[in-house]
Amino acid sequence: MEYINDADFETRRWREARLIYNSALKEIGTKLEILNDEFQHVHKYNPIEHIKSRIKTSESIAKKMKKYGCEPTIENVVKYVNDIAGVRIICSFTTDIYRLAEMLERQSDICVLSVKDYIKSPKPSGYKSYHMLVSIPIFLSERRVDTKVEIQIRTVAMDFWASLEHKINYKFETKVPRHIKDELYACARMVSELDAKMLSLNEEVHSLLP
Ligand code: GTP
Ligand code: MG
Repeated sequence: MEYINDADFETRRWREARLIYNSALKEIGTKLEILNDEFQHVHKYNPIEHIKSRIKTSESIAKKMKKYGCEPTIENVVKYVNDIAGVRIICSFTTDIYRLAEMLERQSDICVLSVKDYIKSPKPSGYKSYHMLVSIPIFLSERRVDTKVEIQIRTVAMDFWASLEHKINYKFETKVPRHIKDELYACARMVSELDAKMLSLNEEVHSLLP
C-alpha cells in the first residue's frame, strides 16, 4: 500500500489546482479567439489587439496570503486569491472594451462575480482598466470545478501606462518620489485624451468611407 504524507498530498493537490486554473485560461482564451474571429468575419475588424495570460507564481500567492493574514492552505488560496488565473485583453479603442465585456457577460457558462470599472472611476494613481472577476466551469473526468479568472481589459495606451507605472513602483519599492507620481498622473490624463482622440478619429474615418 502506498502511504502519502501530508506534504505530498498538498503538492499533488496544488498541482491539480494549477491544472484547473490553466484549463480556465485555455477556456477563456478560446472564447476570446472565437469572438475575435466572428468580429473579423462580420465587421472586418478585430476588437482585440492581443491577449496575455498568466498563472500567479507561488511566491506572489504566498505574499498575498501573508498580506491577508491567512494560513496559506490550498482551501484558503482558492477561496481568497481571486487572480491566480489572469487574462489581460488589450484593445484599440475604449468602445471595444465595453463591447467585449458585454459579449463575455452574455455567455451562459460565464458567471460574473464582480466588476471594477477603473475607466469610469480611475484609481488615484491614474490607473485605468476594466476588471471582471468571472467564474467558469471546468469539466474534469469526474467532477465540475467552477474556477475564478480575473480579466483585465484595457486599451494599448492604458496598457503602456500601466506597464511603466508598475515598473516604476517596482524599482522604488512603492516609495515613488512625489514628482514622479505627479508626472505619471499627468501621463494618465494624456492617455485618456489620446484614447478619446483616436476613437473620434476612427469614428470620423468610418463615417466618411462608404
Ligand atoms: P491586488 O491585490 O493588487 O490584486 O488588487 P485588488 O485585489 O484590490 O484588485 P484591483 O482590481 O484593484 O487590482 C488588481 C490588479 O490590477 C493588480 O494586480 C494590477 O495588475 C492591476 N492594478 C490595479 N491598480 C493598479 C495601479 O495603480 N497600477 C498598475 N500598474 N496596475 C494596477
Ligand atoms: Mg493582482
